[in-house]
Amino acid sequence: MSGFEEVDFFTDESLVADPYPYYESLRARCPVQAEPHHGAIAVTGYDEATEIYRDSATFSNANCVVGPMVELPFEPQGDDIGDLIERHRDQFPMYEHLVTFDPPQHTLHRELLKKLFTPRRLKENEEFMWRLADRQIDEFLAQGKVEIMSEYAQPFALLVIADLLGVPEEDHQTFRTRLGAQRPGPLDEEFTGNPLEFLEERFSAYIEDRRREPGQDVLTSLANARFSDGSLPEVIDVVRIATFLFAAGQDTTARLLTSALQILAERPDLQRTLREERDQIPAFVEETLRMESPVKSDFRLARKTTTIGGVEIPAGSTVMLLPGAVNRDPARFECPAEFRMNRGNVREHLAFARGNHSCPGAPLARVEARVSLERLLDRLGDITISEAEHGTPDARRFTYEPTYILRGHKALHLEYTPLG
Ligand code: HEM
Repeated sequence: MSGFEEVDFFTDESLVADPYPYYESLRARCPVQAEPHHGAIAVTGYDEATEIYRDSATFSNANCVVGPMVELPFEPQGDDIGDLIERHRDQFPMYEHLVTFDPPQHTLHRELLKKLFTPRRLKENEEFMWRLADRQIDEFLAQGKVEIMSEYAQPFALLVIADLLGVPEEDHQTFRTRLGAQRPGPLDEEFTGNPLEFLEERFSAYIEDRRREPGQDVLTSLANARFSDGSLPEVIDVVRIATFLFAAGQDTTARLLTSALQILAERPDLQRTLREERDQIPAFVEETLRMESPVKSDFRLARKTTTIGGVEIPAGSTVMLLPGAVNRDPARFECPAEFRMNRGNVREHLAFARGNHSCPGAPLARVEARVSLERLLDRLGDITISEAEHGTPDARRFTYEPTYILRGHKALHLEYTPLG
């Protein structure tokens, strides 16, 4: 397969709408294949990706967010650059967030995060989701049409995390406006500040307040959570755990919800099945995650020289894992380009990665999708794609985020019959 040699995955907008043929062309050459423009080693094979995800001793997460688009802060030398990574760690983008940490620091902070996802907290959070889904749907139901990304998916995913962290409900509207999950309107113009700064300020205030005056709420548990060695984290460590959840959990989940709804709107047969057999929703969500993995690329820095899939990877190489490609590896998934609800091994997909950094929000995202689909199917009849916005079935136009990091729609306009 050819025709993609000149294409730059990181910047070429022609790959945005449909990156899958490009992934195929990489895999056809080799499941571990250097891409020529930025020198990243692209991994499109399922087994190879799993091996890398599971080997944090050889592969560092220091560069996992932006990969080769930011130069290494040092010149790699020799077959082990572990010391160089540690000496320059604070020069990597997002070095202060969990996702770029390596053990042992990663293990310690991940333990702290686990304390948030207790079965009780998740249960209360799910109860909130059912209420929130209805509240969101109430806002647009009577219109008979909706732009589902901005009017449902973004604010829903945002407020679920706010609730998980115990942000008081009276602050939810401020979060929605300041974090861009608000319908466009005059209010937005007042708030042009950096969303991360807003989150850091808010959570620093919450945590300091609860350490001074403990209450019975979730923010108090967060403020008093200890590392596994018994020590109390600095306020900023807790704040960063909290703020990163918004970065990691909002856009990803919103894209999962939107992709799921596009598939349902395009496939009346599947929509009918899900309306009649609600217990099929989880399988539908998994297959959506496999087919349209919201995280498009995920990077690792080879700490040591090694070999994966028969290809030598010198220490200092940037490795690019492509969940959307590995989840369509025909060696793992039969007829991978077909959407099959009854795929026996669907939960083996790598949309949430594997290994020590695998997504701790995966159970949450799955429940968010299930609750949303349940309530949307209950209250919106005959969901279809808006032809005025996206064209007729033989000439659809969708716009996707022009980024190599996330896969998903910018907007998705749907029409339906309000059911009440
Ligand atoms: C469909 C939705 C989601 C997808 C596809 C997704 C995907 C991923 C992936 C692939 C990683 C691994 C990154 C790496 O290995 O470098 C990850 C990590 C992470 N995700 Fe998610 N995620 C989703 C939703 C969420 C939600 C809802 C939350 C929390 C509210 C969340 C929190 C995190 C955190 C904190 C990490 C970093 C974990 C670590 O480094 O140990 N994610 N996610």
